[in-house]
This record gives sequence, structure tokens and C-alpha cells, in this order.
Amino acid sequence: MSAPSWSAVDDYIVDQLIGEDAVLDTALAHNRQAGLPPIDVSPAQGKLLQLLAKGVGARRILEIGTLGGYSSIWLARALGEGGKLVTLELDPDYAAVARANIDRAGSGDAVDIRIGPACDTLEEMCAAGETAFDFVFVDADKQNYAAYLDYAVRLARAGTMLVFDNVVREGGILDPDSDDPKVPGTRQLYEALKDNPRIEATAIQTVGQKKWDGFLLALMR
Ligand code: SAH
Ligand code: DHB
Ligand code: MG
Repeated sequence: MSAPSWSAVDDYIVDQLIGEDAVLDTALAHNRQAGLPPIDVSPAQGKLLQLLAKGVGARRILEIGTLGGYSSIWLARALGEGGKLVTLELDPDYAAVARANIDRAGSGDAVDIRIGPACDTLEEMCAAGETAFDFVFVDADKQNYAAYLDYAVRLARAGTMLVFDNVVREGGILDPDSDDPKVPGTRQLYEALKDNPRIEATAIQTVGQKKWDGFLLALMR
């Protein structure tokens, strides 16, 4: 099968299992109007994140890479009453779009957007001794994926689930000499998890609206 068929199957999955959602569609429309790159997770992927977060009973979720808040809305909806999503975004203009989208979705009170380079924010969060997160979704600059793993571990507890996006990149991660700067960062994540006694991990390749890519899933011991 080819990319167009993958996308048609995604449409079928959305029809059967997810349904239309005006709030999420409006968020994507606002992202487009604001000129944000269309690199949000797909609806099927957003619901996967939501189900995983619900499945571990997440009350505190950390997201690295907010963009316009599309995945944030999916994740915020996994939280029960009093739950919190902290989402980190470098670009203040993107964060403003996300703030409006998340507020419009009715999740404003549950979502804290922190602006700046995520490594700086994460360092501050560690220094402040923030309460451990139950679920972490990493989807920002791939060059820092290994650093984000280290911070996620410091902000996690036994049983915390970690999910990293874009770990396949149409097979591009196989090339150690790739001139795509995202590749070495992603490979460093795999290397950090190889034989890691504290974390059990796998990666799942995905196809669909977002072409051929994948998620890495990990569970803290
Ligand atoms: N999770 C979003 C998509 C995120 S795209 C969704 O699925 O809807 C990646 C985001 O990471 C972009 O908005 C980009 O600005 C942000 N980003 C890139 N480098 C960053 C950094 N150093 N710190 C924080 N955010 C960063
Ligand atoms: C890119 C980033 C993403 O997070 C994604 O899901 C797809 C593409 C990118 O930077 O190219
Ligand atoms: Mg991504």
C-alpha cells in the first residue's frame, strides 16, 4: 500500500472509531490561519495518546512540544477532575495559538503552557522539585531527544509511561550518516534506551495521514 491508501484507511478509522470533533477541527483551522506547520499528530494518533494516558490513570501529564495544542487537547481530555497537563513550547507565537485553542476546547484550567527552550524549563522544573508526572509525551526538537529522556526520568516515578513521536521518519533513522540533523538526535534516544536497566521500551512503526513514522513507548521501572 502507498501513502494515499494509508490516508484513506485513517479516514475509515476516524469514521468508525473517533468521529468528527468540531473543537479539534477548529484548532487545526486556527493553526493553519496562523501559519503553523501541519505537524500535529493525526486524530488516530491523538486518540492513541489519550487512551494510553487514561490507561495509566494519568493525573499529571508532561508534554514537550505544544505547537498549536492539538495533541494537548487530546491529552487534557484524558485527565480526570483536578488533573494537570504541563506543556512546553519554545515559540511564544505558537504558544498563543495553543492557549486560544486549548481554552476554546474547555481545557484551559487543566493546561499550563510554559514558554521557552524546553531544556531550560525542564531544568527549572527539576530544581523546583515538581511532583512526578504519570505520563510524558515528547514531540519537540529531535536533536534534544536524549536530553528530554534524562529530564523525563528525573520528573517521573516507577510506572510512568513515556512516549516519543517521530522515531522512524520514513526509515531515515537507519542512516547514521544522515544529513538530516533530526536523525542523530533520535538515534541517541534509542542508544540511551538500549540495555537501560531502569526503562523498558519498544517502538511501533505507523502509517497513515502522517505517512510512515512511529512512536517509541517506554515504561519506567
Ligand atoms: N505535539 C504537537 C506538535 C509539536 S511540533 C501536536 O501534535 O499537536 C514540535 C513543537 O516543538 C513545535 O511547536 C516547536 O516550536 C517546538 N519546539 C522545537 N524546539 C523546541 C525547544 N527547544 N523547546 C520547546 N519546544 C520546542
Ligand atoms: C516534524 C516534527 C514533528 O513533530 C512531526 O510530527 C512531524 C515532522 C518535523 O520537524 O519535520
Ligand atoms: Mg511529532
